[in-house]
Amino acid sequence: MNGRGRRRRLLSASALIASAALAVLAVAVQADASSAANRADRRGAVILGTAFRITVAQSSRRYREQLLSHGYRSLTPEYELQMDGVERMQGIFDFVQADRAVAFAHAHGMAIRGHPLVWGKQLPAWLAHPSTRWTRATLLPVMEQWIRTMVAHYAGTVAEWDVVNEPLNQNGSLRQNLWEQVIGPDYIRIALNTAHAVDPGAVLYINDYSTEWLDAKSNALFALAKKLLSEGVPLGGIGFQVHSDTRSPVRAAQLEANMKRFGALGLRTDVTEMDVNTSGLRASERVKLRTQARIFAAAAAACRASPTCWSFTTWGFTDRYSWLGPAAQPLPFAANYKAKPAWAAITRALARKSGP
Ligand code: XIL
Repeated sequence: MNGRGRRRRLLSASALIASAALAVLAVAVQADASSAANRADRRGAVILGTAFRITVAQSSRRYREQLLSHGYRSLTPEYELQMDGVERMQGIFDFVQADRAVAFAHAHGMAIRGHPLVWGKQLPAWLAHPSTRWTRATLLPVMEQWIRTMVAHYAGTVAEWDVVNEPLNQNGSLRQNLWEQVIGPDYIRIALNTAHAVDPGAVLYINDYSTEWLDAKSNALFALAKKLLSEGVPLGGIGFQVHSDTRSPVRAAQLEANMKRFGALGLRTDVTEMDVNTSGLRASERVKLRTQARIFAAAAAACRASPTCWSFTTWGFTDRYSWLGPAAQPLPFAANYKAKPAWAAITRALARKSGP
């Protein structure tokens, strides 16, 4: 082959490569355009998660083994990232326990949900003490420094944060916590913007309870989310805590309808803290367990059916360690770590194919 022929071949080969590259690009652009509409859509299976306590994981081999043997892919430190633990003294950050919790999850290949940054509870005494007179000018830098320090410390390690926790009252009005009272309603916007500026890659959530219903509270949350997004605030997800019980159990259809409307805004819609308190049900143990399993399954099914529900997290996994105390028996494993019917119900509901 002479030089010209080789060159022509080379040219046509490179033209081929170029057109192939263009085709790939076109597909990518197309995919990008469609994913722009559904950018919050989950890829793959729902991630199963649980809250956990690092002190127990370190001291109890049984707890640790159980925590690691059920296929959890995401862990939420139950209290280790709270402000009252990390910033016990103003401006001095103690990351020892928090780092242990995060390192534990990563050592075992699990993601971490960062929980929570701005909440009216679990505040350090120096901050919450009634004699401390805060003004917007003095409190705003405290909030911003706290958020910046936490998000920067875990940038690249913690990919999602409950930036604002429990901002609403049952009637949909803004909860009068310290941040709201002193800084004003825009503490929510400022908190989200501050976190985003430090780690633009993190998915930022508003997380609240009793938002599974179609009522004043979820309507107000929806209006809030819509407003924030219209102002360009980097809200990425809604955390539905779903602390449920046997008296007024979560309804799958209402939770799914909520996930659908928030999802349509381009937000993720995760279940972040589910448990099912059974102490209000006067029935045999068998009936209690079955009722609880059905309630867990309803929420898991709503999540599975919602493309924007990325993860399903229970607030602990064993009744041995629940914030609700021993009578509630709210989790999928008994105090002796034996799987309850709820466990099979959750895994079955999450695995089920969605659609017809
Ligand atoms: C509970 C936890 O279980 C405690 O360990 C924590 O320190 C405080 O309260 N909504 C939330 C969680 O967002 O942080 C709460 O967790 C339960 C209600």
